[in-house]
Amino acid sequence: MAPEHEAGRGTAAAPAPLTSTDPGAGRRAPRADAPSDAPALSLDGTWRFHLADRPGHATPGFAEPGFDDGGWSRLEVPGHWQLQGHGSPAYTNVRYPFPLDPPFVPDENPTGEYRRRFDLPPGWPEGEAVLRFRGVDSAFTVWLNGTELGWSTGSRLTTEFDAGPLLRPHGNVLAVRVHQFSPASYLEDQDMWWLSGIFRDVTLIARPPGSVGDFFVHADYDHTTGGGTLRVETDVPATLSVPELGLSGVPAGQPCRIPSVHPWSAELPRLYHGTLSTAGERIPLRIGFRTVAVRDGLLTVNGRRILLRGVNRHEWNPGRGRAVTADDMLADVLMMKRHNVNAVRTSHYPPHPDFLDLCDEYGLYVLAECDLETHGFTVAGWRRNPSDDPRWRPAMLDRMCRTVERDKNHPSVVLWSLGNEAGTGGNLAAMAGWVHERDPGRPVHYEGDGDSRHVDVYSRMYATHAEVEAIGRYEEPPTADPSADAHRRGLPFLLCEYAHAMGNGPGGLLEYQRLFERYPRCQGGFVWEWIDHGIRRHTPDGREFFAYGGDFGEPLHDGNFVLDGLVFPDRTPSPGLTELKAVFAPVRLAVEGTRLTVTNLHDFTGTAHLRFRWSLETEGEPVAEGVLRAEDVPPQGSVAVELPVLPPVAGESWLTVRAELAGDTAWAAAGHEVAFTQHRVAARRTEPRRPAPLDRDDFDDSGTLVRLGGLRVRGPRLDVWRAPTDNDRTTNADAVESRWRALGLHRVTHRVIGQEWSDGGLVVRTRVAPAATDLGLFATYHWAGDGPALLLRVEVRPDGEWTAPLPRMGLRMAVPAGLGEVEWFGGGPGEAYADSCQAMRIGRYRRTVEEWQTPYPMPQENGNRRQVRWAELRGGDGGLRIEGAPVFDLTVRRWTSEDLDAARHPTDLVPGAVIWVNLDLAQHGLGTASCGPGVLPEYTLTAAPASWTVRFLPL
Ligand code: GAL
Repeated sequence: MAPEHEAGRGTAAAPAPLTSTDPGAGRRAPRADAPSDAPALSLDGTWRFHLADRPGHATPGFAEPGFDDGGWSRLEVPGHWQLQGHGSPAYTNVRYPFPLDPPFVPDENPTGEYRRRFDLPPGWPEGEAVLRFRGVDSAFTVWLNGTELGWSTGSRLTTEFDAGPLLRPHGNVLAVRVHQFSPASYLEDQDMWWLSGIFRDVTLIARPPGSVGDFFVHADYDHTTGGGTLRVETDVPATLSVPELGLSGVPAGQPCRIPSVHPWSAELPRLYHGTLSTAGERIPLRIGFRTVAVRDGLLTVNGRRILLRGVNRHEWNPGRGRAVTADDMLADVLMMKRHNVNAVRTSHYPPHPDFLDLCDEYGLYVLAECDLETHGFTVAGWRRNPSDDPRWRPAMLDRMCRTVERDKNHPSVVLWSLGNEAGTGGNLAAMAGWVHERDPGRPVHYEGDGDSRHVDVYSRMYATHAEVEAIGRYEEPPTADPSADAHRRGLPFLLCEYAHAMGNGPGGLLEYQRLFERYPRCQGGFVWEWIDHGIRRHTPDGREFFAYGGDFGEPLHDGNFVLDGLVFPDRTPSPGLTELKAVFAPVRLAVEGTRLTVTNLHDFTGTAHLRFRWSLETEGEPVAEGVLRAEDVPPQGSVAVELPVLPPVAGESWLTVRAELAGDTAWAAAGHEVAFTQHRVAARRTEPRRPAPLDRDDFDDSGTLVRLGGLRVRGPRLDVWRAPTDNDRTTNADAVESRWRALGLHRVTHRVIGQEWSDGGLVVRTRVAPAATDLGLFATYHWAGDGPALLLRVEVRPDGEWTAPLPRMGLRMAVPAGLGEVEWFGGGPGEAYADSCQAMRIGRYRRTVEEWQTPYPMPQENGNRRQVRWAELRGGDGGLRIEGAPVFDLTVRRWTSEDLDAARHPTDLVPGAVIWVNLDLAQHGLGTASCGPGVLPEYTLTAAPASWTVRFLPL
């Protein structure tokens, strides 16, 4: 007897995509995605649409050409129906939004019905034609002029159907039925929004007689000779021409040896333009000669070990979801190149094919991942995981095959990935076997293969720095099976995900990079992830914000875990990206004495494309500048250059050296900065103190400062709270936020123990502590007059056994709301934290209080400027200068840390009656504990005796 949970299987009413674990039916064999001069007709645009709440409520006869769709809505294709007013988006990370009951999905399964009429353009050839769908989420059936062509699954994969015999010159009707969920949804549990519909382009392509079915370009580079070998496999007779290489009319299949070619790499993405001609069509080719191999335990391109400075990229547009535009794709590639990124993992599915064209052209190494994830089976201990269930083998092989076949001709693709977080099992092994056979020219990756038995690179996600170091030394713990262990020990290592860029962070990037540079086996990795998947929405009064999980009333969701990118949803770079650029810099500059050392970290290029500019500033004001003469430093080489004799300076002075592009490139204009370094050439002069009496009226009876010159102020007083970052906030039991809240650090109270006035000033002794604990901090404020200024030295001493780090060690004060213009000399221009400050440079900057804020779509601690020497706040009500002795961390906001903590979207933050100023000695680091390791010990702010000094001068 069939088990009860299978009782509904195969009922007559249920359509095939909902009852079968097969990948589809009636489809053409997968083939390379390529442009061609064969006639093509785009079917993108406005379609007629109707959404049924379940398959059983689908419209009878909707695919008939004569069906009257006049009353239906209109929907833009490509697009998702949830973002065009039908149903709503839902976000889950690991959990399936339906019962774990494979292969079944609930009857409540939104089903979209699409209709599109079209005429063939004049001159359309008779005969074969294919209908190509480049992405439909998730399972769909297609009818042309009332006849079913077939059905398919694999949301981010291309499907083609034969359409030719059914086409007529006028009045063709294409009908598509799309189910949000299907058995295939069990294979598509990626951490992202559940968004449905025809979200990539639809095209009708003529296939004149003799058109190519499929072709495979093999363009290898031999680094020992500098020669290339080109061979194009085709399934019909064809010829190849590459004028630049003197090749003309070469029969396909015949290997051509070219004695000398320029190889392709991400650094020098040289492409040769050619044409593949058949009796039916001409296909433009862009050929990149390159050889990828794992040799002597290292991943090599063109014979050299490469270092992957990578990011994970999901496709995202805040208004259109995964229906990205050409502009979005180009923007991503240009931004990556400009931020020193050289590699992309297409997490966790094949991207729109045009993206890979851009990677070929601009130069990015691609880890091309199959559309596969079954992560939600973890909640059942991986029981019934499709990866090890033979029923799913055809579907899993189909996905892998369609990934490889579609993208195999891209030189940028250097690794194939079986998918993400799909556990282990025979189907994955079969996929790996298939790829090895079909494309031995590219290594295979899959992180979930714990002992790396079936793959060619050892991959991990979110390993700690210590684990990476152990792997770099070949000292990782052995796997259970000695033969698998021996295999794994011979593999190069990469982090397919690390440094979770959620909210404020990641911290600790530099320390990873140093490990990648120190240990040859550690070949870099891919930061998680490129972009926040926030959905653009507006408050009732029209203010924009970015929605995340739960904002659409989803019964099950994972909140703002979908906002973990280096760029905000609208592609505004976050401070994390600025930090990443500095850490990824492919040249390292260092000034020591009178010399600049240039270390070239490129794998293939020298430094001739760079120009080295220096500038000297005193207190942030320019003093002198020039260009250095530097020889061409070979890849992985290092050269010391004599610096010019600098003019004499008075005051704190910094030399900045920038490596910038000497000429225009495809991705940035001449002058674009690639790397920089700073070196202090003269220290700050300290002015002698000028003791002066304090005015008792400036303080209230508790010894709190209330007036400063003509300004009404409140504070400063000890303040240790910060609005937890996503990395503080992690759900782990040992998350610092939970420890902070358990201690009550978000609700400390202050008690004045005593105050003493003397000629020298005022001393206020206090104890600052949360309720219900005997832990506390003694804070003593030493006030003294200093000319027209006030000098404050704060001394803090912990009371009791503190076991948690402190969020901040600082002061908070309120100043008038009018002081909204800030100028400072110190670290900037953006925010910086102890473990994320490589992009910071000492200079003089100006920001309004509004501009000071980093608008993380989930509000949290932000905006800290480090090593501030002095800051001036000015505005209608006067001005205030604050000086450090020697430096302090500064934050200015129109709301408190508590307001920031309570807000759920930036639109919740309402300016108050004052500006809140934080004057800190230090903050706890950021780390990357939202997924991965926390703050490294050296950036942990422990509760320990501390003291710092600030000087206040009314202006
Ligand atoms: C990984 C996963 C990613 C993402 C990340 C956390 O485990 O592969 O898709 O969920 O965690 O943001």
